[in-house]
Amino acid sequence: MSKPIIGLLSGSSRKASMNRKLVAAMAHIFTKVNAKVRFIDLNDYDMPIYNGDYEDVNGVPDTAKKLVADLSACDGVFIATPEYNGCIPPLLKNTIDWTTRVELGQFTSPVYGIGSATPGALSGIMALRQLHFILNRLGAHVVPTQLGVGHSGKAFDVDGCLADAGTVSRAEKLAGQMLSAIKRR
Ligand SMILES: Cc1cc2nc3c(=O)[nH]c(=O)nc-3n(C[C@H](O)[C@H](O)[C@H](O)COP(=O)(O)O)c2cc1C
Repeated sequence: MSKPIIGLLSGSSRKASMNRKLVAAMAHIFTKVNAKVRFIDLNDYDMPIYNGDYEDVNGVPDTAKKLVADLSACDGVFIATPEYNGCIPPLLKNTIDWTTRVELGQFTSPVYGIGSATPGALSGIMALRQLHFILNRLGAHVVPTQLGVGHSGKAFDVDGCLADAGTVSRAEKLAGQMLSAIKRR
């Protein structure tokens, strides 16, 4: 079997985002287990806030169609979500909402893994719970291990890898679960 392709998507598009750092750290983990990684940067998929009137006049943005095509080309997708007031951020929710206006079934195709980086100790557990709910609702297979990374200011070493051995081990477990699920398909 050729190397599985893993899409890496951060739910924050800001330059210094901790969740961007988390997907970059996951790139090291997935590469070690012989997967190909593809960064999916939401800065490249600009979309207006969903509004039915906008859609009636303009249709679905080409960026949403491109994102669906790019996600569908992946065997697995790892999403790192920020937590905003206990929820996933509007950028990520809006992006998911637009992709469901392109087609509903695409979330059943790649295997999903999820994580969250936050500066506080709680590591985005509320956002993770929400993201898990939404992806399940859309028919996605989400692997059971989730990667909550708290105290994100200290979570990455100078090479951008996860600094804590326990976190690395959870990240490897998550990656292993994704690759096993991909193999079984
Ligand atoms: C509007 C807003 C709400 C936030 N709410 C939470 C929260 O509920 N829980 C939390 O752990 N951090 C919260 N934070 C802090 C974010 O976790 C922090 O800004 C994080 O770095 C954002 O992710 P990013 O670095 O990937 O952009 C919030 C930040 C903002 C801007």
